Amino acid sequence: MNIQKVMVIGAGQMGSGIAQVCAQAGYEVKLNDREEKFFDRGLQTITKNLSRNVEKGRMTEDEKQVILNKITKSLSLEDANDVDIVIEAAVENMEIKQSIFKQLDEITPAHTILATNTSSLPITEIAAATNRPEQVIGMHFMNPVPVMKLVEIIRGLATNDDIYMAIEEMTKKLNKVPVEVNDFPGFVANRVLMPMINEAIYTLYEGVATKEAIDDVMKMGMNHPMGPLQLADFIGLDTCLYIMEVLHDGFGDSKYRPCPLLRKYVKAGWLGKKTGRGFYIYE
Ligand code: CAA
Repeated sequence: MNIQKVMVIGAGQMGSGIAQVCAQAGYEVKLNDREEKFFDRGLQTITKNLSRNVEKGRMTEDEKQVILNKITKSLSLEDANDVDIVIEAAVENMEIKQSIFKQLDEITPAHTILATNTSSLPITEIAAATNRPEQVIGMHFMNPVPVMKLVEIIRGLATNDDIYMAIEEMTKKLNKVPVEVNDFPGFVANRVLMPMINEAIYTLYEGVATKEAIDDVMKMGMNHPMGPLQLADFIGLDTCLYIMEVLHDGFGDSKYRPCPLLRKYVKAGWLGKKTGRGFYIYE
């Protein structure tokens, strides 16, 4: 399968990162969002990241321009009518994702692969909104996308082997490492990571230690680059709560119950770095 043209849906933190690494790997990328201002913000982030590479002598100004020229603006899903793959990185909501996939199924050519960057929603259920579930697959990038090596590749119940192999090959071309995972709540990354973060929040909630102490223990004791509370702020506390709820509902096991303190912060609108306040305050 020859993948050349890519559409990335969602120009937020994840979508812009995915568009950047695709353009860097030589793909033609349509970066889609609902409004021009979201596209502009995404492109600004990409430009900033590439400029840092130029400053550090890792690429020339000309190479940066070649990469930027590979990214075009899209404000309509109809632009997916000539792409080989769509990577969806829109909001984590099953109804919205199913609606997008249903439209993409009608708009895109028959050969187009429909991939989702969902961090925990069932691929099989997203695929069920289309008439091509065998061409639907999970491609879960980690944040920040330009830095992190891993891509979890998740097969839905119907995903066929050729599609899996095409995505594995594309992931390697993006200079990332593909890891195959089956379609269970939270896949592997978030099934392991989120309960750790949730437990760190319980540790704070129960007064076992201060937030700084909890993060120090994990940073210096376990060599994690960020402590779990700092990482939760970085990911977004709403996203952390959402993923815990997916685990809780999906397994029906009380060990995945979200910490009440996490719920309280989300209700307060303290969503982490993106809102200027989470467990920590950001200027
Ligand atoms: N975009 C692009 N590049 C970035 C970046 C960003 N948002 N943040 C940092 N970088 C780059 C920096 O430019 C720097 O590059 P150079 O050394 O080449 O200049 C490099 O990353 C290191 O950055 P810093 O020196 O500023 O800071 P650091 O050493 O603390 O690293 C970090 C930053 C890479 C984010 C590191 O703290 C880290 O690995 N944190 C943990 C990240 C993590 O766990 N991610 C997974 C989250 S879970 C997830 O994504 C799944 C989900 O579904 C929720």
